[in-house]
Amino acid sequence: MVNYKELGLVNTKEMFAKALKGGYAVPAFNFNNLEQLQAIVTAAATEKSPVILQVSKGARNYANGTILRYLGMAAVEYAKELGWEKPQIVLHLDHGDSFELCKDCIDNGFSSVMIDGSHLPYEENVALTKKVCDYAHKFDVSVEGELGVLAGVEDEVSADHHTYTNPEEVVDFATRTGCDSLAISIGTSHGAYKFTPEQCTRDPKTGKLVPPPLAFDVLEGVMKKFEKQGGFPIVLHGSSSVPEEYVEMCNTYGGKLPNAIGIPESELRKASKSAVCKINIDSDSRLAFTGAVRKHFAEHPDHFDPRQYCGDARKEMIKMYTHKIVNVLGSKGKAE
Ligand code: G3H
Ligand code: 13P
Ligand code: ZN
Repeated sequence: MVNYKELGLVNTKEMFAKALKGGYAVPAFNFNNLEQLQAIVTAAATEKSPVILQVSKGARNYANGTILRYLGMAAVEYAKELGWEKPQIVLHLDHGDSFELCKDCIDNGFSSVMIDGSHLPYEENVALTKKVCDYAHKFDVSVEGELGVLAGVEDEVSADHHTYTNPEEVVDFATRTGCDSLAISIGTSHGAYKFTPEQCTRDPKTGKLVPPPLAFDVLEGVMKKFEKQGGFPIVLHGSSSVPEEYVEMCNTYGGKLPNAIGIPESELRKASKSAVCKINIDSDSRLAFTGAVRKHFAEHPDHFDPRQYCGDARKEMIKMYTHKIVNVLGSKGKAE
């Protein structure tokens, strides 16, 4: 058993309480390799932003649980080296799909876990989430639950259509499970293809596709239900904005990502100012990484040292993470 406190990590409790009051969101960036981790920590340390290092089941299988635990510790030490005296870094399991997986992460240095029972019947979701909370809280580990289903693929759980979160269920769910934060469905989805062109309208001035708005009425409905208890930390998954420059970079240098479209940053900015305390971003990092590597190979066909092309990818990701922290989520300077 390795408790996250021995690694210098923190749970989400204080982080979310501050974000809820302060009207900003904490970035939760997925990672599965060294360059992503270095880029996330560099951006967070430079901007003094609290940050959640997020690992999916697939990423954990790819990178190895033991290596990840020490990468979590390395993140804290590296942040200090970069001049961040008291790093506020969470190591979080994204989309945990069983009690056993959550327990394994809790026992091996994670400071926060998500148990995603959103695809289960309500009572089963409650029971599973409560079981994880009861175990996690013994070790001061935070738990994220989920109500409502995102369109697209939720890790290994596939959902063709959104089922928006029902505001009538949220207080009952949070009270009976004891979860520390709640992921909700308001129209975001995972991946780089969040909307089909048919679902979008076209801006007559720019000719660009404009996705349908998020269901802010559902978010407001959820927030209203939590008003009596002074609010509750809400999580948004599927919140990559799929920046045009990275899609273009991929496509210009041999990629094929037609009609990739994400959540407009203006909507994420608006959400960050509400009870949304955690915003999940994975695809944008994949796009920045891949775009930079493709460009590098096209411009330097003679290069074969991974430090050359991964170095470019890392630079591009630092730029992207910094932009999210400073201009989208508003978390800059919130962990001085
Ligand atoms: O929510 C899904 C995340 O983007 C993780 O994706 O399961 O391919 O690692 P993954
Ligand atoms: P994106 O695919 O939009 O980056 O979403 C990531 C996510 O929700 C991870 O849980
Ligand atoms: Zn997700």
